Amino acid sequence: TKKIILDCDPGHDDAISIILAASQPSLEILAITTVSGNAEIEKTTINALKICDLVSLSGVAVSKGASEPLIRLRETAPGIHGDTGLDGPELPEPSRSWSDEHGCDTIIRLVKESKVPVTILPTGPLTNIALALLKAPAIKDNIEEIVLMGGGTFGNWTPTAEFNIWADPEAAKKVFDSGIPIAVMGLDITHQALATKEVIDQVQKIDNHVAKIVGELLVFFASTYKEMFNFAGAPVHDVLTVAYCVAPELFKMKEVNITVETKGEFTAGTTLIDLHGVTGRKVNAKYGLELDVEGFWSFMIEALKKF
Ligand code: BDR
Ligand code: CA
Repeated sequence: TKKIILDCDPGHDDAISIILAASQPSLEILAITTVSGNAEIEKTTINALKICDLVSLSGVAVSKGASEPLIRLRETAPGIHGDTGLDGPELPEPSRSWSDEHGCDTIIRLVKESKVPVTILPTGPLTNIALALLKAPAIKDNIEEIVLMGGGTFGNWTPTAEFNIWADPEAAKKVFDSGIPIAVMGLDITHQALATKEVIDQVQKIDNHVAKIVGELLVFFASTYKEMFNFAGAPVHDVLTVAYCVAPELFKMKEVNITVETKGEFTAGTTLIDLHGVTGRKVNAKYGLELDVEGFWSFMIEALKKF
C-alpha cells in the first residue's frame, strides 16, 4: 500500500478525491489536511469532516491548516463551489471536530514518523506544503512524491493562471523548487476528465448512498461550470491525483521543468511549463498530457460501486 496525505480545500472535486481514495485498498490515508482555497479554512475543514463521515474514515485525522496564503490576500471561489465550498448535497453536521495540530505540523510529523516514504496529494493552494518545507526542510528525504493538481499551459482564474497556483504563487514556487519528485495534474489533462451528462447518469444509476451524494456534487459542479465557462460538464480536476496514484497507466506524462511566476503584473501564479525544453532548466516534474478518458471513468464507476 501507498501511504498518502490528502491536502485539500473541499471543494466538490476535492471531496470526490477523498471518496475515491477511501475506496482504494492500495492507499492508506495517513491524514487529511485542509487549506483555505475554494472557501475559508473553517468551511473547507468542516467539508472534509463531513466527507469523512460519509465514507466512514473515522480513524483518519483531519487537521486544519493555513487560513491565508503565505503573503498574499486570500480569495475564495464561491462562484464555482457555492458559499459553503460544497453546495449541492445535504450532508449532516460532522460527528467530530478537527484535530488540535496545525495541518503543516501534521504533515511534518507524519512524514517524519513514517517508516516508508510518504506521497502527498495537494489539491488546493500549496500553502501547507510550503509551510511544512520551510519549518522542516529535512522531511524532503522521506517524501516519495508530491502528486498535485494545479497549473496549466492556460488559465482558469486569470487568462494564464490556474486557481490553486494563483491563490498562493509563492507557496507553489517553493514546492516546485524543492527538488522533491512532483507529478502535476494541470488544466491540460484535468479538462479531459469532464463529468458530462452521460457520466452523471452512470453515477446516478449506482445504488448506494455515497454514489448518490457524488451524483449531487457533480450536478452542482456541472451547473457552475456551465454558468461560468459554458462547459458541457464539470472537470473533476483533483480526482486525477488519486487516480494517478492507483492507475498511472491511464496517464500520459512528460518530464519537464515547471516554474511559477510570482512577480508579473498580469501573470502572477502562471506556471511556465517547458514542454519543448526551450529554457534548458533541469527537469523537476512530470506533467500530465493525456488521459485515457474511458479508462478513467470506468475506474471511477467501479470505485463508487464498492460503497
Ligand atoms: C482547482 O480549483 C478548485 O476550484 C478545484 O477544487 C481545483 O482544485 C481547479 O482550478
Ligand atoms: Ca481543490
